[in-house]
Amino acid sequence: MLWVAIVSRWIHIITAVVLVGGSIFLRFVLGPAAAQLPDDSHAKLKELVLGTWKKFVHGGIALFLISGFYNYLVVQAPLHKGDKLYHPLMGTKILLALAVFVIASGLVGRSKAFAGMRAKAKLWQGIMIAMSILIIGISGFLKVRPNPVAMSSAPNAAVGAPIDN
Ligand code: HEM
Repeated sequence: MLWVAIVSRWIHIITAVVLVGGSIFLRFVLGPAAAQLPDDSHAKLKELVLGTWKKFVHGGIALFLISGFYNYLVVQAPLHKGDKLYHPLMGTKILLALAVFVIASGLVGRSKAFAGMRAKAKLWQGIMIAMSILIIGISGFLKVRPNPVAMSSAPNAAVGAPIDN
């Protein structure tokens, strides 16, 4: 089902662009500008912005999980059977992504358990952005690195060299 794989990849990458880009905008552009407003205006703007951003965060987490697990379990895992680097790196990426989801949800939510995190929102936004960039780095590496499983079964095809007939 090639088209499902393509659509799920589009969804995954668009979600990353919107959520990571939006987080960088909030941390480095909107947040510092809003902090210069009088306290009551700042609080109102924060409430309004987070009320909408929260929907992006929750929807984005759902899209990441659906498209990511589909992409991993259905599309990539069969292509990487026995690949000793792919799965540990993908596992690391998934754990980092789950931690990012917890931080992102804590920052936009109202739960008392995350009140300490919201009190240091700038720090946690920075940690979350740094982790997201690491996740993108791992994902890009896994995408571009030659697949050793494919190379062992068709070495010429895997490195893109012309095949001798
Ligand atoms: C913060 C959350 C996440 C971000 C920012 C993110 C980002 C990305 C990006 C940018 C790519 C495309 C890499 C490329 O084509 O160069 C990608 C690929 C991928 N992602 Fe995610 N992702 C996240 C969460 C997840 C989760 C939860 C899963 C669940 C399994 C997942 C599984 C995958 C898979 C399987 C690929 C394809 C890797 C390959 O081509 O070998 N991602 N991700």
